[in-house]
Amino acid sequence: MKALTLEGLQKTYYDPYKGTQVTAVRDVSLRVEPGEFVSVVGPSGCGKTTILNMIAGFLPHTGGRILVDGTPVDGPGPDRGVVFQSFALFPWKTVLDNVGFGPKMRGVARAERDRIAREYLALAGLAHAADRYPAELSGGMQQRVGVVRALANEPDVLLMDEPFASVDAQTRLMLQEELTRIWQQRRTTVLFITHDVPEAVFLANRVIVLSQGRVLDDVPVPLPHPRRWDALVEDDAFKSLSAKVLARVRSA
Ligand SMILES: Nc1ncnc2c1ncn2[C@@H]1O[C@H](COP(=O)(O)OP(=O)(O)O)[C@@H](O)[C@H]1O
Ligand SMILES: [Mg+2]
Repeated sequence: MKALTLEGLQKTYYDPYKGTQVTAVRDVSLRVEPGEFVSVVGPSGCGKTTILNMIAGFLPHTGGRILVDGTPVDGPGPDRGVVFQSFALFPWKTVLDNVGFGPKMRGVARAERDRIAREYLALAGLAHAADRYPAELSGGMQQRVGVVRALANEPDVLLMDEPFASVDAQTRLMLQEELTRIWQQRRTTVLFITHDVPEAVFLANRVIVLSQGRVLDDVPVPLPHPRRWDALVEDDAFKSLSAKVLARVRSA
């Protein structure tokens, strides 16, 4: 488990053809403690995806620093796992081989990477789907495989950008419960990006509210784990925290 630290992070996009600049991230400082689950919420266009892409190393930052346990981020690396809203599983590979792909890239031998992949599939209740192909799975199951694939790399930091935004509402609730359960068992450091306030509160130990490329608020969520929707929808602490975060997002 490692900490993720952002210090005065900044991103200005430059369009060389138009000669225009857009500052998407103005000044973001944030520390995610080892094993902590932090959600980032904010309205569309406030810079969430830009921040995640910089942490992932897909996009260079134009100011500030990104550190994983004190080491500056310089491009993508296996220490950071990423799950997007629309990510592609390899359609020609079985579920088992999709999940074992990261370990394979790291040179893990067949038997051992199959063992790792099966262990993570079992953790997500997907053991029965190991030999199937992505096209044979529902959208929700594909998304679960995507999450499991990221986890099987055993990254120090898991970065998620609205990973459940495109699945149906029922499946989304189930995936959220599953993610909190897996997080509780594995205690990976997680930065989870969403524009959905109840989702942010449900999952996290702490919710960061972002507005126009700055941190507007930092709200602790001291609710016990594992979390379940049937209990939390009626829970006063959950309701008042969600209302508080929603008010902050609306003021953003
Ligand atoms: N490649 C790009 N070039 C120029 N501007 C961009 C680019 N990507 C995003 N932006 C701008 O940066 C801002 C933040 O975008 P984004 O990080 O995608 O926000 P969010 O994920 O919160 O919706 C927006 O104003 C968006 O138009
Ligand atoms: Mg986005």
